[in-house]
Amino acid sequence: MQPPADTGLLPLNTSSAQPFGDPAGTWNQRFSGDGYLFGTEPNVWLREHAGLWHSGARVLCVADGEGRNSVWLAQRGLRVDAFDISDVGVAKARRLADAQGATVNFQVADCDGFAWPEMAYDGVAAIFIQFADPALRERLFDRMQRSLKPGGTLVLQGYTPRQLEYRTGGPPLVSHLYTEALLREAFGAMDILELRDYEADVAEGSGHHGRSALIGLVARRR
Ligand SMILES: C[S@@+](CC[C@H](N)C(=O)[O-])C[C@H]1O[C@@H](n2cnc3c(N)ncnc32)[C@H](O)[C@@H]1O
Repeated sequence: MQPPADTGLLPLNTSSAQPFGDPAGTWNQRFSGDGYLFGTEPNVWLREHAGLWHSGARVLCVADGEGRNSVWLAQRGLRVDAFDISDVGVAKARRLADAQGATVNFQVADCDGFAWPEMAYDGVAAIFIQFADPALRERLFDRMQRSLKPGGTLVLQGYTPRQLEYRTGGPPLVSHLYTEALLREAFGAMDILELRDYEADVAEGSGHHGRSALIGLVARRR
């Protein structure tokens, strides 16, 4: 049987009561192919905003998957920590870093288990972390903000509910998707530098591919 996840979508027949019941197993299976599910190039929103962080800045990549974003940031001279729940994904991320001659401090960790430091990072990159249901998202967003130094910036990308019509990536669960209002409220304690609800043709491996309803946020900790 084919793994369910080339599209980055969760299987629709998964129990709605516990759609993310075994995230490590689900993502290990998704990352078990030879290729890189979301490619090896960085996310475009991240690439467009990474200039906020200067060489030597310390950045955390949340749920970094197979490493495309962390490795690219490390190649730009940043000091990068990255974690993900999938050991298969992190092993591939380590291979990508080795192949590119980049140094990233990778960890296999669940976002609730990661030892979040306080006020440690100049930047946090949170690219397509919509595995989180509302309760987990609240904890995760809070930890992300607290891990930033004052003046540190968050770069976040996700899908909006319109993505349920495109079905070109992301979870098919409206409660996991972001709106401008949701992000404004969640990051109300930060200065929002940019918040954009937009559509674009995405080409990130086979996992995120095609017309997509996106949202991007850049926010600075006060
Ligand atoms: C859509 S992928 C995005 C990966 C990466 N950020 C990127 O843009 O290529 C979502 C990632 O979240 C990870 N993940 C899912 N649940 C998690 C959890 N509870 N804690 C940490 N990582 C998790 C998955 O293993 C997967 O790598």
